[in-house]
Amino acid sequence: MNKKMTISSIQKTKNVRPLVMITAYDALFAKLLESSADMILVGDSLNMTFGGKSDTLSATMEQMIYHTNAVCMGAKNSFVVCDMPFGTYINKDEALKNSIKVFQQTPADCVKIEGGEDKAHIIKYLCDNGIAVCGHIGLLPQSVRSEGGYKVKGKTSQEQLQLIEDARAVEEAGAFCMVIEGVKAKVAAEVAKSVDIPVIGIGAGVEVDGQVLVFSDMLGLYEEFTPKFVKKYLNGATLVKDAVKKYAQEVDLKAFPTEEHTY
Ligand code: KIV
Repeated sequence: MNKKMTISSIQKTKNVRPLVMITAYDALFAKLLESSADMILVGDSLNMTFGGKSDTLSATMEQMIYHTNAVCMGAKNSFVVCDMPFGTYINKDEALKNSIKVFQQTPADCVKIEGGEDKAHIIKYLCDNGIAVCGHIGLLPQSVRSEGGYKVKGKTSQEQLQLIEDARAVEEAGAFCMVIEGVKAKVAAEVAKSVDIPVIGIGAGVEVDGQVLVFSDMLGLYEEFTPKFVKKYLNGATLVKDAVKKYAQEVDLKAFPTEEHTY
C-alpha cells in the first residue's frame, strides 16, 4: 500500500516529480483510483457528472460532505481535497463556518476554494484558523455564469500578469498548493515558476507541477462534452453500454443466470 501523502510530502514534490490528482465522488471509484493518485479531489464537478446539472453552481455543502465521506471511506490511505461549493465562502466568516463543517464532519485533509488575489484574505483567515487550503486559479468554473462561459485565461499580457499576482497572493495567504485551470500552457509554466508551492494543472499544459483530471472524463464515461484538454484513457461509456446490453439480451433469452450463478 502506498504511503498517504501529507502537506509536507506534497510540497516536497515541487521540482522533483509531477503530482497526480484525480477526482472521485464515491467509495467505489475512490478505492479503484487510490493506488495511482497522490491526491483525490472531491470536486463540485460532481454536480454535473453525478447530479446531471449543467454547471457546478448548485452544489451544496451537504452534497460535498456526503461525497467526501464516501471517498474517504473508499480511499482511507489517500490525501483528500474537498471542494467548497459556490456561495459557501463569500466572506471570511462564512468560509470558516463552512470549512469547519468539512473538517468536523469528514476526514478530508483540506478544502479547495476558487479565486486568486481577490480571495487571498479568505484563504489567510482559513489557514490562520487551522484549515489547510488548496487554491484554484485561472478558469474558475464557479464563475461560468458571470463570465458567460468557460474562458481560457492567459491570452493577454494583462491576464498573464494577473495570474502571476493571483498565484503569489494564494501562496502568500498560506495555501499549500493550488490548481490552475484553463490557462495557456506557456503562461501556466511561468505561474508555476513564480511560486514555491505545487501548481497542479488542468488544461494548463505540461510544464506545471502536476495534473488533475475529472475521473469520468478520463475514463470516457461522460459523453455530453469533451474539453480539448481531456484525454480518454478508456472508452468507458461504450464498455458499460455494451456490457449492459449483453446482460439485457441474456436476461431476455433466459441465458442468465446459468447453473454457475444459481444456488
Ligand atoms: O470540481 C472539480 O472537479 C475541479 C477540477 C476541475 C479541478 O475543481
